[in-house]
Amino acid sequence: MKDGQRSRTAERVAMRRAAHQIFDQPKVFEDPLALRILSDEAAAEVRIGAGESVNPWARGLRAFVAVRSRFAEEELARAVARGVRQYVVLGAGLDTFAYRNPFENLLVYEVDFPETQAWKHARLEHAGIAIPDSVRFAAVDFEKHSLADGLAEAGFSRDEPAFFAWLGVVPYLTREAAFGTLRFIAGQPQDSGVVFDYAIPPESMGLTERMAFEFLASRVARAGEPFRLFFEPEQLRAELRALGFSEIEDLDSAAISARWFGQGQGQPLHGRAGRLLCAWLSTGSA
Ligand SMILES: C[S@@+](CC[C@H](N)C(=O)[O-])C[C@H]1O[C@@H](n2cnc3c(N)ncnc32)[C@H](O)[C@@H]1O
Repeated sequence: MKDGQRSRTAERVAMRRAAHQIFDQPKVFEDPLALRILSDEAAAEVRIGAGESVNPWARGLRAFVAVRSRFAEEELARAVARGVRQYVVLGAGLDTFAYRNPFENLLVYEVDFPETQAWKHARLEHAGIAIPDSVRFAAVDFEKHSLADGLAEAGFSRDEPAFFAWLGVVPYLTREAAFGTLRFIAGQPQDSGVVFDYAIPPESMGLTERMAFEFLASRVARAGEPFRLFFEPEQLRAELRALGFSEIEDLDSAAISARWFGQGQGQPLHGRAGRLLCAWLSTGSA
């Protein structure tokens, strides 16, 4: 992230979620606020982006952006069923869950880079989207500030389980910042969990994955937010287990397609380097 600047990639992914609402049928992720939260200019760009709607690269990326939100909200529902009452959206960008939260007694903590969060407040106000009493904000730069302090100031409890969504953020972080956050999550009580997406290292990608990845990597680098963190799946799972996580589900594009984009259910994800992971702190974990 550039000092003093809001995230550009947050706007781009929000535009892809909005495009999904307009162009994709059936939808894998329903978000009635996705278009409303955008600026008028961004919303207009989405609406006239008919070319993007059929471009296979854009469709694939849009499907990934949509399905990761679906995954996070499905796992959140499981967490709520387990009794979790705190949801932390790390690097929230223009995520709209907090403004359509269907769960009574679920507090939602939105954590983000200070300038991105200030921009989101302006977007919410402009769109006339009310901020429910259940929403708390913590302005935190994961590279410089303490997540623990930021969340504590916002009223977060270290003694109650929590579920964390960390979508489209990990690849932009240093390893130290990412593991600092994972260690923080691992310090919550059992029944806490986290969903995040990550990419395998470029040198481990197949040719199709690598081409799609390089194209996206050059775009985010131009936006001043280069990808810099990658994981080998097996090694990451071992590191998560060492931190105390169990019940780890780690989905590649074939597994994602099989689960959410089966026959007739929309654009499958072919050869994407992005993966979705969910990990829980359960009874009996180390
Ligand atoms: C690609 S956007 C994803 C936003 C949102 N999670 C979504 O899926 O729409 C990346 C987000 O990570 C946040 N981010 C990146 N680096 C960060 C850092 N060092 N500290 C805090 N937030 C950061 C940005 O502000 C932005 O909101």
